[in-house]
Amino acid sequence: MTSNYEKARVKVPASTANLGPGFDTLGMALPLYAWIEMEEASETVFHLYGGEMAGLPQDKSNLLYQVAQLVFAEAGVEVPELSISMYSEIPLTRGLGSSASAIVGALAAANVMIGSPLSDARLFDLATALEKHPDNVGASLFGGIITAVWDGTHADYIRIEPPENLEVLVVIPEFELSTTKARGVLPTEIGIGDAVHNISRTSLLTAALASGRLEMIGRAMQDRLHQPYRAALVPGMEKLLAEATAHGALGIALSGAGPTLLCMVDREESRKAELEQFLLATMQEHGITARTRWLEPCSSGVRAELAPRNGMQNQSFLDMIKGETSI
Ligand code: HSE
Repeated sequence: MTSNYEKARVKVPASTANLGPGFDTLGMALPLYAWIEMEEASETVFHLYGGEMAGLPQDKSNLLYQVAQLVFAEAGVEVPELSISMYSEIPLTRGLGSSASAIVGALAAANVMIGSPLSDARLFDLATALEKHPDNVGASLFGGIITAVWDGTHADYIRIEPPENLEVLVVIPEFELSTTKARGVLPTEIGIGDAVHNISRTSLLTAALASGRLEMIGRAMQDRLHQPYRAALVPGMEKLLAEATAHGALGIALSGAGPTLLCMVDREESRKAELEQFLLATMQEHGITARTRWLEPCSSGVRAELAPRNGMQNQSFLDMIKGETSI
């Protein structure tokens, strides 16, 4: 069919949220990716690749479709039928921002498809309104580390370039944990002592990351707002939080709502193998199968570009990402 609109291709990174004390505030992009291709079609079709995509709806209730329609509505254009392809290597419901990546990827794809009428700031507001907190979506959108504030309508943020010596080790349990469940165990009110505890550590952590003061990270990554309540949902988490720094981590936190845990590590650290072994052995002691991944903080956020509209679409989509996927 002929279309007034371009075909869009997007590559969007995963993310970790909170970094310990910065609940719903701090986020960092990580180099696991989702790729999305979107174009106008005569009828809506989906091509969802990768085991993580199995079981997602393939009709107009699909999140990617719904998110794209928000962009079109805001821009005042109508594109009711879409061809959407997606491949994701981001583990689902593990605390690595898979839903945030899908939201940001679909927003960016729909926007670039119709000539980019919406600014990045507007995309951030739309993404945060959908996700309800700005930490994961901000990191996927802008890359690096972000500190963000959401007032219910607008998200303000500052992006921080990750310190050069910072590496990340994640331990990803095999089981899934939904964000809804992990938010459901949180108290609705907290004491002033815990509030001060977290404000002070979040401030220290943000300053430490912005100035490359890695030696401050361990003490700054302490949290009393969410991790103590979520520990019961992740066997082994309490021991990992208490002891990882004795095995070479600068600091450790639950990644987002979990169940993945994330260690910040100095690139020069000599006990990397020991740390990895400690994480896996502790999970195993608690009956949990898990895998580890070393990751660099990811400086780039979502990348959206136009693609040629002709040719064997699905073949070229898979060709585009061949050689890039890391799992
Ligand atoms: N800040 C969020 C939470 C991230 O901890 O619940 C999960 O999406």
